[in-house]
Amino acid sequence: MTQRQKSTPDMEELFAGHVAVMLDRYDRALEHHKFDAAVVYSGSPHMQFLDDMAYPFKANPHFKCWAPLTQVPDSFIIYRPGEKPVLAYFQPDDYWHKPPDDPAGFWTAQFDIRILTEKDNARTLMPVGHKAFLGEWQERFSKWGKFSANPQGFIHELHYQRAWKTPYELACMAEASALGALGHRAAYLAFCEDTSEYDIHLAYCAACEHTDDQLPYDNIVALNQHAAILHYTYRDTAVIPAPQRKSFLIDAGASYNGYASDITRTYSFKDDAFAELIDQMDELQQIICDQVIPGASYPELHLDTHRAIGGLLHAAGVITMHGDEAAEAGLTSTFFPHGLGHYIGLQVHDVGGFMNDAGGERISPPQGHEFLRLTRTVESDQVMTIEPGIYFIESLLNKLKDSPLKSAVNWTQVEKFIPYGGIRIEDNVVATDNGPINLTRDAFDKLGQSHS
Ligand code: GLY
Ligand code: MN
Ligand code: MN
Repeated sequence: MTQRQKSTPDMEELFAGHVAVMLDRYDRALEHHKFDAAVVYSGSPHMQFLDDMAYPFKANPHFKCWAPLTQVPDSFIIYRPGEKPVLAYFQPDDYWHKPPDDPAGFWTAQFDIRILTEKDNARTLMPVGHKAFLGEWQERFSKWGKFSANPQGFIHELHYQRAWKTPYELACMAEASALGALGHRAAYLAFCEDTSEYDIHLAYCAACEHTDDQLPYDNIVALNQHAAILHYTYRDTAVIPAPQRKSFLIDAGASYNGYASDITRTYSFKDDAFAELIDQMDELQQIICDQVIPGASYPELHLDTHRAIGGLLHAAGVITMHGDEAAEAGLTSTFFPHGLGHYIGLQVHDVGGFMNDAGGERISPPQGHEFLRLTRTVESDQVMTIEPGIYFIESLLNKLKDSPLKSAVNWTQVEKFIPYGGIRIEDNVVATDNGPINLTRDAFDKLGQSHS
């Protein structure tokens, strides 16, 4: 079970509603794809090469979607339409490791729970007929009856539907945001002291009570030019003395019942031109967040962001072209070389971002924007990140110097910003019929502290 689980009547009710949605989704998908039952495997620990140590266990997201169990390997959800879902819960008698706790909490009433002390005993619980199996397939399962392992059409349908979050999922994601906000506040306070990236990372984890393995993704804790490395996950132990401290970018989330938050903030150490650029980016980011409304085209939001970033770069004297022209010419892609964001939920980069329909037809990103991970139209109850950025990445700048767009750049101004690395501001936003709900800003507001 994950830490800090709430067991309130509220959660029981929310979870019952969530399972009702799951039953409906599975009933329809099983019927469409002509299966008699579904078997969802949590997964098993993976051993390191030539070693007797396992990698951290990460549960199958399809399993986590059924139950808030992130650390129960070798367990199964077994569902046959019309019957209560069975949870085959593996709880070995193991004195080397801590076995999972007895099942307890708001979620247990929804399952017919069978405790297994031997892995292969799950075989006796398998229903007859043709079963859709979701999870990491193992050869031993082939003796347990007739399965199709990870049938693509069945998975497409479930992935397409995962974009719509249930009220239970939204409550979990609000909690994940609240934990992330606690971590971000502690990290910011640590940054203001003489600390290293490593120290800041520890302050973050302590505040949200997460081990490294419980984080939904590796924390990005970047001082100065490290902020120009989009996925910088090395945590330097060197303390940078105050006169050399320029900037701090932290991209760090938290987990709650298997659901993720994904939050980025950037700070300038001094009240300087970079601080001004951060403020402008914050303003722009909030304008985009306000446009997360049903019917909006996410790729259009991404392209609008490029034009607006062009405007910021022009106003900051970094480029000589105006915003729209800079975006059209591809100039802004040097400074904003990733997508505006992605779906988020059980996975940080949640599935289904390119799906036009439950059949899996793909909506490609606009040409020249291949890194965009979400191409669907926004609909109510979907949760996505909004994470615009401006970076001064030397390898991309060098390529720009070799292109005809070189003359559209004020290189003296670029040189001034290179030591700061870059800016990213990232929130998690729910689209609703009554306007966007910004889970991240709400979480910071509840802490009584504004972070930008
Ligand atoms: N933290 C990874 C991302 O923002 O997508
Ligand atoms: Mn993100
Ligand atoms: Mn992020």
